[in-house]
Amino acid sequence: MRSADLIIHGAGQLVTCASGGGPKRGEAMLDAGIIADGAVAVIDGKIAAVGTSGEVLSDLESSKIIDAEGRVVCPGFVDPHTHIVFAGDRLNEFELKIKGAEYLDILAAGGGIISTVRNTRAATEEDLTQAALKRLDKMLACGTTTCEIKTGYGLDTETELKMLRVIEELDKRHAIDVVPTFLGAHTVPPEFKDNVDEYVDLVCDEMLPLAWEWYVGSKFANEGRPFYCDIFTERNSFSVEHMNRLMAKAASLGFGIKAHVDQFTNLGGSRLGVEMRAASIDHLDAISDDEIEMLAASETVGIVIPTENFNGGKTQFAPARKLIDAGCAIAISTDYNPGSAPCPSMPMAMAISCRYQKLLPAEVMNAATINAAFAIGLGATHGSIEPGKAADLLILDSTDYRLVAYEFGGNLVSSVIKNGQVIDL
Ligand code: NIG
Ligand code: FE
Repeated sequence: MRSADLIIHGAGQLVTCASGGGPKRGEAMLDAGIIADGAVAVIDGKIAAVGTSGEVLSDLESSKIIDAEGRVVCPGFVDPHTHIVFAGDRLNEFELKIKGAEYLDILAAGGGIISTVRNTRAATEEDLTQAALKRLDKMLACGTTTCEIKTGYGLDTETELKMLRVIEELDKRHAIDVVPTFLGAHTVPPEFKDNVDEYVDLVCDEMLPLAWEWYVGSKFANEGRPFYCDIFTERNSFSVEHMNRLMAKAASLGFGIKAHVDQFTNLGGSRLGVEMRAASIDHLDAISDDEIEMLAASETVGIVIPTENFNGGKTQFAPARKLIDAGCAIAISTDYNPGSAPCPSMPMAMAISCRYQKLLPAEVMNAATINAAFAIGLGATHGSIEPGKAADLLILDSTDYRLVAYEFGGNLVSSVIKNGQVIDL
């Protein structure tokens, strides 16, 4: 008999989200890859065997065995779009929005992202790290085991690089695996209010090369994890021409591409993102039918962010149902950030998506795991319970996985296993 470091057996539903390679699309989204009375064995932090309890226990033994007692075991969630490195809060803005102010109006009046930029520039690296570690703890408690984190509250070279160093520190100090994204073009900083082109020059000519230099010397490059460049393509921020320029430069340096597109206004960013072979295009509220067709025919993953609409008190959401039916590869994220989505919980994003975007529980489960992993370049190693992948597992306090999206406001995660280690929550 082979010996494993850990065996979990007796899962009433072992929800594998296995895709066999590539993100899931269309009908495959309805299959969560469930094995009844399932078991999983872990060796060296990786999944060594998956099957029924009978199959796995007849092949492997271990001194560490967990009986799931009929509960659900599923992959750790992958949150593919977050902005968790920031200082301060946006509680005043929360009240302004309740009283009727619009997100883009607050931004235009020097609030919104800019107010977080002021606080983030003034904060020390250690203060930013400590605050973000607490956010990662909350995410982990809600079942997130891997996430993407963006810069974008610096908007000057010094602070953007400071944020990158903080992101590396978070990956070193926290159990959650991180993928870094450079978002120097998150919005136009006040110093360049009347000269957006010059700011884009600064990002292209100075920030991007320095960010790439940082990456090359970082643990991310060393461990073969990708580095992305993102942009906020929106009215009063950056145009598709800016996006074209910036992404071409980023791609020439080696960055993977991501973009905030169609959050409020259709400027053609989805089209450009797909043409530039972006790893993901994110938000998609205002995506056109033509662009949906292009996305469906591409390798690009569409990330939808229902928490943002919910936070804005909106009843209009990105057309995730239509996107899936058209054959697009769709993932879901929290967008955890202080302004438009102060939400650490993937199950909350899933709960909202089911209700307002009409995704079924199996679809949001795949969107929050395997497809989200592909959206951040980790699809081959994370996001599903398949042999050879990282042993990132959740034991849920439920015998039916659909409860994750059905219940909301609580937390069904009873155990988190990261790289085969049971985490103390
Ligand atoms: O994805 N530009 C948008 N970026 C974030 C919001 C960040 C913020 O408001 O601080 C988003 O919604
Ligand atoms: Fe965002």
